[in-house]
Amino acid sequence: MCNHNRKKDCFEYVDSQLPRVPLELVVNGEKVYELIDPTMTLLDFLRNNLKLFGTKEGCGEGECGACTVIMNNKTVNSCLVLAVEAQEADILTIEGLSKGGELSILQQEFIKHDALQCGFCTPGMLMSARALLDRNPDPTVEKIKEGISGNFCRCTGYQSVIDAVLSAAKREREELR
Ligand code: FES
Ligand code: FES
Repeated sequence: MCNHNRKKDCFEYVDSQLPRVPLELVVNGEKVYELIDPTMTLLDFLRNNLKLFGTKEGCGEGECGACTVIMNNKTVNSCLVLAVEAQEADILTIEGLSKGGELSILQQEFIKHDALQCGFCTPGMLMSARALLDRNPDPTVEKIKEGISGNFCRCTGYQSVIDAVLSAAKREREELR
C-alpha cells in the first residue's frame, strides 16, 4: 500500500512542491550537493535525481530489502529514509561496488554460484552481504543468514547466495594475506 507521496502505481515519485532544502552528502565516493524536495526518500533521490537505477524499489515500505544501501557503514532500507536524513552521510550503492569497470569479488562470486536469477533482489542482497563482510570477514553460515535476513529473494532459495558469500569471504581474506 502506498504510504507516501506516490501515484497509485506506487513506483512514480511525485514532487510535493514544498520549498527546496539543501542536501550535501557523499555517494559512492563523490560529493553531491542538491536542493531537494524535503519529502523525498533516499531511494527516490538516488533513482530520480542521481539516476542511480541499480537500487530497486520492491515494496516501498521496509519489508523486502530490495532498496538496501549502505549509509555510514550500516545497511538501511532507502525507501524508509528521507533524503534529508542522509545529510552529510556517506552512501554506498550497488554502483559503487565495482571499481574501474571490474566487478568486485563479491559480485564475481554471486555470478559464479548462480546466486541471482531475475536479479531484482540482487543489488540489495549484495549491499547487505558487503556490510556483513565489512564487519565480519569470516562469517559462519548462521551469520550470513542473519546478515541477509532482511532481503527477500523469490528465485534462488538462498543457498546459492550463502555459498557465494562464503566463497567471497574466503577470497577476500586470501587477498589480504
Ligand atoms: S523497497 Fe525498501 S524494503 Fe522494499
Ligand atoms: S534473484 Fe529473483 S528475487 Fe532474487
